Amino acid sequence: MDETAQQKVTGFAAPKGVPEYYPSESAGFEHVRNTLIAAADRAGYGLLELPVFEETGLYARGVGESTDVVSKEMYTFSDRGERSVTLRPEGTAGVVRAVIEHGLDRGGLPVKLRYAGPFFRYERPQAGRYRQLQQVGVEAIGVDDPALDAEVIAIADEGFRALGLTGYRLEITSLGDAECRPAYRERLQEFLAGLPLDEATRGRAQLNPLRVLDDKRPEVRALLEGAPLLVDHLSTASSEHHAAVKQHLDDLGVAYAENPRMVRGLDYYTKTTFEFVHDGLGSQSGIGGGGRYDGLMETLGGQALSGVGFGLGVDRTLLACRAEGLAPWSEARCEVFGVPLGDAAKRRLVVLAAQLRRAGVRVDIAYGGRGLKGAMKAADRSGAQFALVLGERDLEAGTIGLKDLASGEQQAVALDDAVEAVLAALA
Ligand code: HAM
Repeated sequence: MDETAQQKVTGFAAPKGVPEYYPSESAGFEHVRNTLIAAADRAGYGLLELPVFEETGLYARGVGESTDVVSKEMYTFSDRGERSVTLRPEGTAGVVRAVIEHGLDRGGLPVKLRYAGPFFRYERPQAGRYRQLQQVGVEAIGVDDPALDAEVIAIADEGFRALGLTGYRLEITSLGDAECRPAYRERLQEFLAGLPLDEATRGRAQLNPLRVLDDKRPEVRALLEGAPLLVDHLSTASSEHHAAVKQHLDDLGVAYAENPRMVRGLDYYTKTTFEFVHDGLGSQSGIGGGGRYDGLMETLGGQALSGVGFGLGVDRTLLACRAEGLAPWSEARCEVFGVPLGDAAKRRLVVLAAQLRRAGVRVDIAYGGRGLKGAMKAADRSGAQFALVLGERDLEAGTIGLKDLASGEQQAVALDDAVEAVLAALA
């Protein structure tokens, strides 16, 4: 069936590669996102609510023209004023733009910011790889201190641990600095020039030789066996920085493995670079990544200040929780479910529900004049712990039935004391 024919039969569908989270699954999504945000919040990162689209040039300049993200994956369009705008493919460039624009770097440093929300990349959709992906990110800008790199990494680790995840690894490396990178690049290019590589790979070696190290083809991997590695050619400053980051991670008890061949898809990284990899996710195993960026502030027109941050993938972290059989969240929509039998009972229960909500209890009611059986089914489906059952006779007696939905036990409580009775039952 072609797309238009299918549309006629089924109506509209969400865009390809865009995951939607609806009850009850969305409870897991929200829990993962909030747990990751809370870990950043505990370390003093303030919320930055970023625009979802920006001037296209910001990403071309900030992320790098030669990256796949910029050259192949951006959702770019002209708005009605004929400005080229792009749906944000990542958060770091936007954060740095905001810091410069609002002069946030004129106060105390580092500026510590967090953000969360959807990002957009026109990738080939598959399990765990989406065109609209959700991240929780942090950036700490203005202080080049290895302890800050370790803090950022430890926050991510805390977030994953708070979810109960255990099947992930942290890989780190150093991508050096402006002093050692150019010489290393030349050395690597020389090495690559001596290999029998195909034309496309040779082209890549000219443009971005570091990325060739990430080639997944076994025959190319074999050729790259003896390639020079940047970690062996670091400047003294980068080497000391890297050693200090690892020392802090050891002090913190955060386990890591060095991966000197790590290649990130964004061009701004210098010095510390890291990725969290989960073993239960197949090929899309990166649940988070980040690193330090020395030159980005200047590239985007700000002061020469270094920054460090991460982006954690909420969708993939949720998949990782599922892969580990973890569901530390409640899928219950409410705690108490009201079952009114008759119109007078409904009027009274609508008011009682409002009173309970005001007291902080999550309450829903059976609407639409359902009978006892249907309403009790709805109560069970809602995930509530208790049902409040009110019939005409209860009303006359001034009582209401408080039913424990797990045990099936029901007691009559005075209607006027129902709020207190429910609070006591839930406590
Ligand atoms: P990134 O590695 O491109 O880094 O993305 C961070 C995380 O977002 C990935 O580890 C992954 O979990 C998730 N992610 C990325 N693309 C997709 C996709 N297509 N589908 C599902 N999940 C995806 C950044 O974006 C940097 N801005 C991170 C950073 C912040 N570096 C420094 N500060």
